[in-house]
Amino acid sequence: MWFAWLMRLASRFHEPMVAERKRALLCGLKGRVLEIGAGNGVNLQYLAQDVVWTGYEPNRWLARNIAVPEGGRLLVEPYRAQPGEYEAAICSLVLCSVEEVTEVLRGLFASLRPGGQLVFVEHVAADRGSPLRRLQDRWLPAWRCCAGGCHPNRETLRLICEAGLTIKEVEHFHLPLWLAGPHICGVATKP
Ligand SMILES: C[S@@+](CC[C@H](N)C(=O)[O-])C[C@H]1O[C@@H](n2cnc3c(N)ncnc32)[C@H](O)[C@@H]1O
Repeated sequence: MWFAWLMRLASRFHEPMVAERKRALLCGLKGRVLEIGAGNGVNLQYLAQDVVWTGYEPNRWLARNIAVPEGGRLLVEPYRAQPGEYEAAICSLVLCSVEEVTEVLRGLFASLRPGGQLVFVEHVAADRGSPLRRLQDRWLPAWRCCAGGCHPNRETLRLICEAGLTIKEVEHFHLPLWLAGPHICGVATKP
């Protein structure tokens, strides 16, 4: 429950800093779209009305805040998508949090049709060897414990590529969020 409260607070602070980037990346999505770790549904505001949205949010305290769009559905139990079921998938601040990230990315890969897109907005590891990376590594256990399992030092872009997706566009940017400062956003496609 406290994490749902924390996320509401975090969204209020984080969202204005990424809103323009999210709008550019998400407003053009079409068809069936899967969003994992939908949180409190913060990304729904950027999607076109005719998108058929499926959200997965395992935290029930967060899930109950989501206003599911007409024709959409919200899953709170682990799901198995049909292979190639979705035109697009969305991950925002999720790949840092999932425990079994390789498995989750493989699942996303399978759920996309060929040519389908993964849109990502994630905070990520700082460059290896940098002072910030050393801090991210050192603070990992405490950070994970306080921030819902979040890994500040996750090399998410590499993991997306290793799952078989091709990076079509990526922007690296930095927000004033200490360990969670380095961010990436962009699009990866399924060949
Ligand atoms: C930091 S929150 C981000 C929420 C939202 N996407 C946003 O941008 O505000 C991380 C989310 O990932 C969810 N999560 C954790 N493990 C997950 C998993 N294995 N699969 C899907 N979502 C997961 C959490 O419940 C939480 O809602």
